[in-house]
Amino acid sequence: MVRRRQLYEGKAKVIFEGPEPDTVVAYFKDDATAFNNQKKGTITGKGVINNSISEFLMMRLSEIGVPTHFIRRLNMREQLLRKVEIIPVEVVVRNVVAGSLAKRFGLEEGSALPRSIVEFYYKNDELNDPMILEEHITAFGWANHTELDEIMSLALRINDFMSGLFRGIGIRLVDFKVEFGRLWEDDQLRVILADEISPDSCRLWDVKTNEKLDKDRFRRDMEGVEEAYQEVARRLGILPEAAHLREAVGPHLVE
Ligand code: TMP
Repeated sequence: MVRRRQLYEGKAKVIFEGPEPDTVVAYFKDDATAFNNQKKGTITGKGVINNSISEFLMMRLSEIGVPTHFIRRLNMREQLLRKVEIIPVEVVVRNVVAGSLAKRFGLEEGSALPRSIVEFYYKNDELNDPMILEEHITAFGWANHTELDEIMSLALRINDFMSGLFRGIGIRLVDFKVEFGRLWEDDQLRVILADEISPDSCRLWDVKTNEKLDKDRFRRDMEGVEEAYQEVARRLGILPEAAHLREAVGPHLVE
């Protein structure tokens, strides 16, 4: 057993000191929370599935040139990451009206937006992650103008790429949240994609039935939470069982 020094415990992950300098290890828990910790529960197997889904998406994004903190998956629940200074801004990209956007403007969930919307929230549980403007981000020094431009362009590239990837497996990418971090690379401070991308941080609807395949099932006390996470992994071709059932491992195209 490797003993690792714990650096931080979040709601869905624990971060440990990594085995090499400038690395950390993220351990994915089965714990789930919603509405800033007011609702708590467990989604059995979520940690294992999110570890693999996030690995898969980060690797595909890195292949198209999106810099990420992901180095490699270590085991069923842990991944090795480059240590970054997290920028305390949650970046939400929306393609379809849902969640807090529907609530805020009294809109019905499900209409496609004429163009993607990018929103920013200040990552602060005590304040309940308030929505913020670019002005707040630069005025309070959470990121400078150059970093913010980079964040915006990365968020939109991530959205375009992931929308297509999910569409290919019969899933509509309704919205998602990403976080970024900064690190020194070749004497330059760079912004890279951090945290995780998984059904915890995305809204994923089946294209044909509009069935929810994400954490909204937990937030809204719906049945089949575990199965929804498994279904996303299965369609991406990364469930261990799916690998045995089918010889080819990889996304399975859905018409
Ligand atoms: P929202 O509609 O509740 O603002 O959520 C937008 C997206 O961001 C949705 O895909 C879920 C994700 N999200 C998080 O990952 N963490 C959060 O704390 C919240 C509020 C949303």
